[in-house]
Amino acid sequence: MMTEKERAGRAAAHAVEDGMILGLGTGSTVHFTLLELKVRMDQGLRLQGVATSQRTEILARELGIPILPFSAVDRIDLTLDGADEVDPNLNGIKGGGGALLYEKLVAEASDKVIWVVDHQKMVDTLGRFPLPLEVVPFNLEKLWKKLENQGYHPRVRMQAGEPFVTDAGNRILDLHLQAISDPEGLHRELKLMSGVVETGLFLHMAEEVIEGVGDTLRHHFR
Ligand code: 5RP
Repeated sequence: MMTEKERAGRAAAHAVEDGMILGLGTGSTVHFTLLELKVRMDQGLRLQGVATSQRTEILARELGIPILPFSAVDRIDLTLDGADEVDPNLNGIKGGGGALLYEKLVAEASDKVIWVVDHQKMVDTLGRFPLPLEVVPFNLEKLWKKLENQGYHPRVRMQAGEPFVTDAGNRILDLHLQAISDPEGLHRELKLMSGVVETGLFLHMAEEVIEGVGDTLRHHFR
């Protein structure tokens, strides 16, 4: 039997129409979207993709999906991406895979955004999943201290004993908040801090969420 991630991920590939320029998200759910896109391409579907991470670009190229640089496209028809948490308004937290900056830039350039998630990621209130912030390395310690003093419980994301480095060369601070009562206010507050490049709060961006639930799917629309 397919997992919820695989079911949701593969389903999203069927929203793609011939000739589209696609934003290709990052993560283990959208991985299955790319596999299903390959199946559809073998049946004649034509598409071009813009990757949101090096990891996705490598997989796409392995599958024979033509990749365009972000700078070469004016608009993207549709972006298919994962998410870490989604609330009933289809606002979400992203960046668990560390690709939040490029994911947000690609989403903002897209006519439509669909997220693919498993059932556990649908929540009433965002914040149990730590909120990622992409920050410039020069300011990492000072920002950490400031956020700690504000009670936001930041942790430097680590990988193999070193601070995680994003595709843009930045670092990630994960805020352990438990519950975010005002996502818009928090996003604005964090973005105003010098050295914060982007937050993992993706607000009013996804038009549709495809949720894998057991052996079926639920579609949510904004
Ligand atoms: C990467 C992301 C991912 O889309 C998010 O973490 C979901 O990943 P997965 O599908 O592996 O659970 O935002 O930055």
